[in-house]
Amino acid sequence: MESVYHLGLSREMIKEAKFAFLPGDPQRVPKIAKTFDKNAIKLAYKREFRTWLGKLKGKMVLATSTGIGGPSTSIAVEELAQLGVHTFIRVGTTGAIQKNIKVGDVIITTGSLRFDGASTHYAPIEYPAVASYEVVSALIHGAKTTGVDYHLGITASCGTFYPGQERYDSFSGYVIRKFQGSLKEWQKLNVLNYEMESSTIFVVCSTLGLRGGCISGVVVNRTEQEKVKKEVVVLAEKNATQIAIEAMRYLIQNRTLSH
Ligand code: URA
Repeated sequence: MESVYHLGLSREMIKEAKFAFLPGDPQRVPKIAKTFDKNAIKLAYKREFRTWLGKLKGKMVLATSTGIGGPSTSIAVEELAQLGVHTFIRVGTTGAIQKNIKVGDVIITTGSLRFDGASTHYAPIEYPAVASYEVVSALIHGAKTTGVDYHLGITASCGTFYPGQERYDSFSGYVIRKFQGSLKEWQKLNVLNYEMESSTIFVVCSTLGLRGGCISGVVVNRTEQEKVKKEVVVLAEKNATQIAIEAMRYLIQNRTLSH
């Protein structure tokens, strides 16, 4: 029973699971897994990678945390793919940059700006970071069934929380020229939000022939303020999780993949 290096999982342990939720935060793993249909079980916890296993619609499903950012996220997707997983839904949090988006709403990303580094190790920068059309459709279905306000569109996926997302409330207060004025530019170009993992997931999945999607709960609107308030995180996580679960049920029920 050989385990993959970082996740501490083997094919036997994951019981042929093909579907995985990918929160960034390890603490979100049990929260997601507790909403599965059957009693979920803990499988492994190494570094930032925590995994629980359970069932949805009669199929085995995983929740595995990716940690923050591209490098650890690419490892999670890679090693789960090596174990046979083909469908991934990131369940994350995000900062919105358009005025009409409220905290607690969710954003379903259709494609991402590639301001991560890890995805460039899988494909040149001209290669688009796009979500799986099937996963996006399932997430829209999920959002409609839950009634949560959702927004569909393009995300700026960044390798840093502070300079890459043009935050000046940092240690130095300095943002390099490349990112000065970038928030305003993304607003003008109809980018909806910032987060840190979707571009890696989309490029790794597309290049490997896997399906990847991303739903994020809005924890701050940068047109109003910079600081994330703890109480809104709970609501944003709950809404994103509920929709991701509904979407996964839909994908399992309406199987369109040949493998
Ligand atoms: N995650 C991010 O990457 N940015 C935010 O503003 C909030 C959550």
